[in-house]
Amino acid sequence: MGAQSLAVACGALALCLALAGATDPGFVVRITQAGLDYAHQQGITILEKELAQLKLPDISGDFRIRHVGKVHYGISSMDLRSFHLPHSRISLVPNVGLQVAISNAFAEVDGNWRVKIHFIRDRGSFDLKVENIYIKINLKLGSDASGKPTIDTSDCSTRISKVRVHFSGKFGWLYNLFHDAVESRFRKILENKVCTNVVSSVHSELQPYLQTLPVTAQIDAMAGIDYSLVAPPTATAQALDAYLKGEFFSLAHRSAVPFPPLPLAFPPDHDRMVYFAASSYFFNTAGFAYHAAGALVFEITDSMIPKDIEFHLTTSTFSAFVPQLEKMYPDMPMKLRLSTLSAPFLSIGPGGLSLKPVVDVQAYAILPNSTLAPLFLLTLTGNVSAVIDIKSSHIVGSLNVGRMKLSLKHSDVGTFQVRTLQSIMNILASSILLPRLNARLEQGFPLPLLDRIQLSNVLVRFHQNFLLLGADVQYQPRGWR
Ligand SMILES: *[C@@H]1O[C@H](CO)[C@@H](O)[C@H](O)[C@H]1NC(C)=O
Ligand SMILES: *[C@@H]1O[C@H](CO)[C@@H](O)[C@H](O)[C@H]1NC(C)=O
Repeated sequence: MGAQSLAVACGALALCLALAGATDPGFVVRITQAGLDYAHQQGITILEKELAQLKLPDISGDFRIRHVGKVHYGISSMDLRSFHLPHSRISLVPNVGLQVAISNAFAEVDGNWRVKIHFIRDRGSFDLKVENIYIKINLKLGSDASGKPTIDTSDCSTRISKVRVHFSGKFGWLYNLFHDAVESRFRKILENKVCTNVVSSVHSELQPYLQTLPVTAQIDAMAGIDYSLVAPPTATAQALDAYLKGEFFSLAHRSAVPFPPLPLAFPPDHDRMVYFAASSYFFNTAGFAYHAAGALVFEITDSMIPKDIEFHLTTSTFSAFVPQLEKMYPDMPMKLRLSTLSAPFLSIGPGGLSLKPVVDVQAYAILPNSTLAPLFLLTLTGNVSAVIDIKSSHIVGSLNVGRMKLSLKHSDVGTFQVRTLQSIMNILASSILLPRLNARLEQGFPLPLLDRIQLSNVLVRFHQNFLLLGADVQYQPRGWR
């Protein structure tokens, strides 16, 4: 049944492409041991507070003492004064998940006791020290249907090896006769409570926090980025890797991307807390989405030319290079329309990020009745390189254009020396087109980050087929300003 419905679904090729590409990441987030240690430190602080709020139930029972008889005892109003987790570490369990091991934790509890022996009653207070608490927590990471990360406690065990209780009061000595029994009941209760609390803290605090990962980020009026997980996060001996789709899409009509993500060979860098690998696929889907949304069309008119440039976009200016214009369209404003036939394709290698866009430049004369008269169509090719950085959790960039090559594709005004237009085109590209593109790239594109995370100590490296960004992380607790 599944195979048949899949075959039917695959009749639509686009869907098949989407399904086939579903497991290859366009974007990888790697959290190193340093990153886990940092997260662990934050998490332990929270767990310590949670554990100190544990509510302990009252205990009561009977005990028989030789020569005295039956003693009824009760312990109530137990209050955890503190819970300390001084030693703990987080480790990666390859192919399984994470393990948190807490050792030599200790807690202090005080409360009230009461006893009844025949018709004698007494009461008093006690304080209790719990030492050598060992807690082992196994965490399993996954992904849900929407591609958000999930986390769950797959195992939790607590072992307490030492409880020391001191009873004060007239009959306090009595307790010392059966403190073993009280202590072991207390130990069992606490061992249970700790794990119950850990499981519920992971469920109610950690899981919702992980779900703050913005798996689809709308980035402007035209496009969004799909950062959904394509597989559950994987633990290796060195790091925790999350494979994300890493795909831009047009908001108006998302279509299947006609090229697959290329494999990413991660270098063994581990000194930063987190690394992001953005594959050339990630950037090329950006070109694809913006091209599909019609955003890669620019029109240049005279009013856009900066005042400090002694140049006007008119047939009078251009007739110096295309003499026919003087007769055919004397003294008229012009318009240039820049467009790309296909989305620009970018490649990333150790030397950096580069693209060789092929831009069509259609020149028009604007007639007195506002009709556009086509003049000529040029093709502009050039080598564009990019500088990439991280600013305020966004990937930002700026483009540099090298020398451009012009060729004439079509002319409605006869032949002319295309070479002579070179310097004009250079000026237009460097003073109008690039500043506009760079203004957009300066705003950047958001990285997939959990809430209240800031990056620092950023590193940018280029590798074959991907850009590697490394950073340290700072978590800002709620209410921080
Ligand atoms: C605009 O003027 C041109 C030439 O004078 C003419 O060929 C064209 O039909 C006019 N267009 C309109 C919409 O009036
Ligand atoms: C672009 O770079 C390539 C080599 O990477 C070179 O062969 C080509 O001439 C360059 N194009 C221009 C217009 O500079």
